[in-house]
This record gives sequence, structure tokens and C-alpha cells, in this order.
Amino acid sequence: MAAETTLIILKPDAVQRGLMGRIITRFEDKGLQVCGAKMMQIPLTLAEQHYADHKGKPFYDGLVGFMTSSPVLVLAIRGIGAISICRSMMGATFGSKADAGTIRGDFGVSNSFNLIHGSDSPEAAAKETGLFFGEGEILDWNRANEVWVYDCSGDEPE
Ligand code: RTP
Ligand code: MG
Repeated sequence: MAAETTLIILKPDAVQRGLMGRIITRFEDKGLQVCGAKMMQIPLTLAEQHYADHKGKPFYDGLVGFMTSSPVLVLAIRGIGAISICRSMMGATFGSKADAGTIRGDFGVSNSFNLIHGSDSPEAAAKETGLFFGEGEILDWNRANEVWVYDCSGDEPE
């Protein structure tokens, strides 16, 4: 399996509560690679594009309002299977339901203030990294410890 790059957003509640470092550390500890990072306050039009699939749902206006209310940290995170690995590390959508050991399960209790977004498919990851990062903002860099994160003795890292 080739390396994937997924879009993670540390939502306004994660930034306001000072959880950025602890959440990034979880991804780095797992062996995933941070290839892009950008702090921003999401403009309304970008939030609407990002959550276009949810337009018309009862929670849509609140979701867009929340996501644009205060700064977020946007990350591009890379690794083999990164999309599903990040989703399982995030936990279930609602903080009240998310398992202990996951980011949402360990750091929050709210259903709407659920700390983190992660792309849910390769198609979503491609769309979302393109929405939030411009040309040259996601870096292809070589990690010093790559050969100890993956077994690189064969044809493909695993
Ligand atoms: P996200 O897109 O933010 O990573 O979250 P997700 O995939 O786990 O959940 P999704 O179904 O895509 O929903 C997007 C965000 O909308 C809010 N939501 N509220 N009240 C509700 O029924 C409801 N359902 C979803 C959550 O904030 C969720 O993160
Ligand atoms: Mg989603």
C-alpha cells in the first residue's frame, strides 16, 4: 500500500483548550509524518466547500458557525494507511460515544465540539488537502527515523 496524505483539522475547541501539542504528539508517536501545518481562521466560503456534503442537514449551520468561529490548525499527515489510521485514532464522531484511548474519547465530552476533523476516504483526502493547502505547502521530506518506523528491507516499506 502506498503512503496516503490525509487532512486533519484541529477544530476551534482543540486550539482554544490548548490541546494542539498533545494531539499532534499522538500522530507523531504513532509513526505518522506531519507534512503540512497551517494555522488559520477558516473563511465562511471555505467551510461551506469543506462541509458541502452536509449542506441541508439540521446540524449544518451550527457546524459551519463553529468551524469559522475561532482559529484552527490544519495538518497534512502522511503514512501508509494514514486515512483510516487517523480516523480510528480520532474515535467516533460524538465525544460522548467515542471510546477511551481515542482523541475524541480522551479529550472531550461534547457532541458538536468534537475537537478534530479527518478525511474519511482517499477522494475526500484529495479534495480537502487541495482546499486547504496551496502549491508547495505540503512538503515531501525525508524523516531521519523512517527506516525504524517501517520495515524497509523489502521492495516496499511495511
Ligand atoms: P468530521 O467530518 O468533522 O471529521 O466528523 P465525522 O466525519 O466524524 O462526522 P460527519 O458525519 O462528517 O459530521 C461532520 C460534523 O458534523 C457534526 N455532526 N453533528 N448533530 C448531529 O447529528 C451531527 N452529526 C454530525 C459533528 O461536529 C461532526 O464532526
Ligand atoms: Mg466527516
